[in-house]
Amino acid sequence: MEKLIIHGGKCLNGTVKISGAKNSVLPILASSLLSSDQIIIGNVPHLQDVTTTISLLTEMGAHSSIDEKMRVTIDSSSIRNFFAPYEMVKTMRASILVLGPLLAHYGEAKVSLPGGCAIGSRPVNLHLEGLKSMGAKINVEEGYIIAKAKKLKGTTINLSISSVTGTENLMMAATLAEGKTIINNAAKEPEVVDLANCLRLMGADISGDGTSSITINGVSNLSGCSYNVLPDRIETGTYLVAATITGGNVTLKNTKPETLKTIIRKLEDVGAEVETTEDTIKISSDKENLRSVDLETSPYPKFPTDMQAQFITLNSVSKGRSRVTESVFENRFMHVQELVRMGADIDVKGNKATIKGVKKLVGANVMATDLRASASLILAGLVADGKTIVDRIYHIDRGYECIEEKLTQLGAVIKRVPQ
Ligand code: EPZ
Repeated sequence: MEKLIIHGGKCLNGTVKISGAKNSVLPILASSLLSSDQIIIGNVPHLQDVTTTISLLTEMGAHSSIDEKMRVTIDSSSIRNFFAPYEMVKTMRASILVLGPLLAHYGEAKVSLPGGCAIGSRPVNLHLEGLKSMGAKINVEEGYIIAKAKKLKGTTINLSISSVTGTENLMMAATLAEGKTIINNAAKEPEVVDLANCLRLMGADISGDGTSSITINGVSNLSGCSYNVLPDRIETGTYLVAATITGGNVTLKNTKPETLKTIIRKLEDVGAEVETTEDTIKISSDKENLRSVDLETSPYPKFPTDMQAQFITLNSVSKGRSRVTESVFENRFMHVQELVRMGADIDVKGNKATIKGVKKLVGANVMATDLRASASLILAGLVADGKTIVDRIYHIDRGYECIEEKLTQLGAVIKRVPQ
């Protein structure tokens, strides 16, 4: 397996271009199943999860092409099966997002139950209960969801948890259902709004996205469209932490500061100086005077769980004690033990991590366990004394486009080596 080797101690300076959002492009790719016309998607990040999703769609019979501007065209008019196999779904849980569109457009689907992952059991009961309430017949046999629906019917769905992909799956299913669907306690993440914007361009009748109650009036069919994906707010946040922790001065381009208000506020509490325009963020800091910050993860617009690991690394080398509470997933502290091996002073009890800032971290061989944990270990390597080797970096390739190129461009000493 490939590794990343990082020599710490460099301040990051310069400009970096943010890529399209992983958690936007995945549901938007799945939405191509709702139409018999082609959809053209721009600002697509070059990520393993994107490749996996396109492979899944082409396995079903869709045609895809990528042009020189990295715009992806998907034509699912010749879909010949409605099957998402375990071999694919186990590598990317977001494959569950084909379930709603397949049921809505073709009336059937056989999708592997996504297993759990390093950060939690990740059930999909809310997706299935919501579809059942729309009239779908759903059985689970030998690890597969077998779903059938002559015609989904609009209804009111009250989500017990504001699940992001749950909201997205049900919103896509409702676009072609008969009548009105209201999704209450819906997720408000910007990626949900991005998907709704794309669906509206396809002819869907959706309102309320971005609030906790989304109304969808079903239509008879959806056309194709051409849509550019939202900038990735978590990639943005990760580079903001990289600049802050190394005491650098970095400008991020092609991003969307308004989707990072909570993260930017927290970084200012840490002591970073931040200036924003509509699509850029400039950040600088004095790494000798960073202040630890307490935080608790919550659904948007509060502090995102996908930035928790990165902030634990930041707190590890900031002054004072801090407490980080992970309230979204049940096991999202896998990065802590690896950081402790680098000299961090972190104690975990249940869903709370108490961090005591230390003067320095020391490079070590560490192992990535999940996407954002990988990012937190790379951030630690950027500031640690000496060499850090991050193993199992296939995790990082799922969600960060060309991470070593982008960091090298900012002055980091980082390279990818084969096993
Ligand atoms: C999405 O996952 C993101 N993935 C995750 O990003 C992100 O961490 C998460 O939302 C929370 O913001 C994509 O968008 C592809 P949830 P999702 O359903 O939709 C429980 C990353 O690093 N739940 O909002 O799977 C669940 O166990 C990834 O980019 C149920 O109990 O998350 C969790 O505790 C990681 N039943 C909570 O809800 C369900 O049917 C929130 O999960 C669904 C969810």
